[in-house]
Amino acid sequence: MARLSIRTADLHASPVREMLSVSQRPGMISFAGGLPSPDSFAGLELPPPPGELLQYGPTEGEPELRAKIAEQLAGLGIDSAPDRVLILSGSQQGIDLVGKLVVDAGSGVAVESPAYLAALQVFRFFGARFEILDRANPGAGWAQAAPALAYVTPTFQNPTGGCWSADERRALAQACDAHDVILFEDDPYRDLVYEPCERRPVCAQVKTASWVYQGSFSKTVAPGLRLGFLTASEDIFPLLVRLKQAADLHTNRLSQWMVLQYLNDPDRDARMARIAALYRGKRDVFAQALERHLGGLATWSTPPGGLFFWVTLNGAVSPEALLKRALERGVLFTPGSHFLAQGGACQALRLNFSLAAPEAAERGLAILGELLREEAGG
Ligand SMILES: Cc1ncc(COP(=O)(O)O)c(C=O)c1O
Repeated sequence: MARLSIRTADLHASPVREMLSVSQRPGMISFAGGLPSPDSFAGLELPPPPGELLQYGPTEGEPELRAKIAEQLAGLGIDSAPDRVLILSGSQQGIDLVGKLVVDAGSGVAVESPAYLAALQVFRFFGARFEILDRANPGAGWAQAAPALAYVTPTFQNPTGGCWSADERRALAQACDAHDVILFEDDPYRDLVYEPCERRPVCAQVKTASWVYQGSFSKTVAPGLRLGFLTASEDIFPLLVRLKQAADLHTNRLSQWMVLQYLNDPDRDARMARIAALYRGKRDVFAQALERHLGGLATWSTPPGGLFFWVTLNGAVSPEALLKRALERGVLFTPGSHFLAQGGACQALRLNFSLAAPEAAERGLAILGELLREEAGG
């Protein structure tokens, strides 16, 4: 038996990544991942990139791209500058770097529960001890024992689609300041907005605490490019750069160039508006089909943004048992228990509405409704 690090005892496969391979079987209807609609990739045709990008580049990222992102961060009220923007190989990398920087075995990490499962997976791998963050009362108990880190996705959270109010955002910023907790705000969904909502970053409201704010181009441009970015308070930014040096030297320069073309495109705002309209339409069609097929069997609220419905089953049906039967009928979803920080049972399903075509969504939800009615009938 190979002698591996103690950490690998907590190395588990991501259930969503595993389901991705199942979802690619012909005819499968998948509500399981967080995949953008291929329709949103339209209009990304680009000229060939300059050849010099085939050379090694700077760890921090391409200067022009960093400057462009810093400009946008300034627009959000975040205290950043081009030399405090780090281009990431997907924002998932930011989670890994922050985990390495902050989390030791037994470190307290405050998270919402449910929360993004691939973040829980990373923090768990580094030995995090999770505490549940109540967004209505963040910082409760921190006077006695404050966590090292608070990880949140306040805008269109994965998996619930929820969006924090202005008061909740202010209260978290104040709690992090008061107890010197590092705030890590993950914001990949902010541009997928379908209703007017409070979206002011919490990091824009922090005064003294250390913080990291990150975003992604996966949901607005294309996830295959693996392009994200972070900015952080001055004390920790250089450390994150050193960790990235050790992780992958730098992010793919061709992807950086492609995203820069997108950011400089005069049609960019119109393109983003088209994508939001596409997803708003898909969300509404999905909500109607949910009502038709799961009405009376489950409860949910329509998300004001993002890519997911969080659907809680009535009664005692187990989402895991439902998934087994759904798979036999060619339908995939993610059981809610995967998103719980402290484990345990969960009566909810996370359903992605961006990928499936309307007819497939209708068919998939009809199958889930049938299975649930069979369960209810005995
Ligand atoms: C909350 C959250 N953070 C981070 C990521 C990672 O995104 P990417 O690495 O594609 O930028 C995702 C992906 O779905 C996510 O939902």
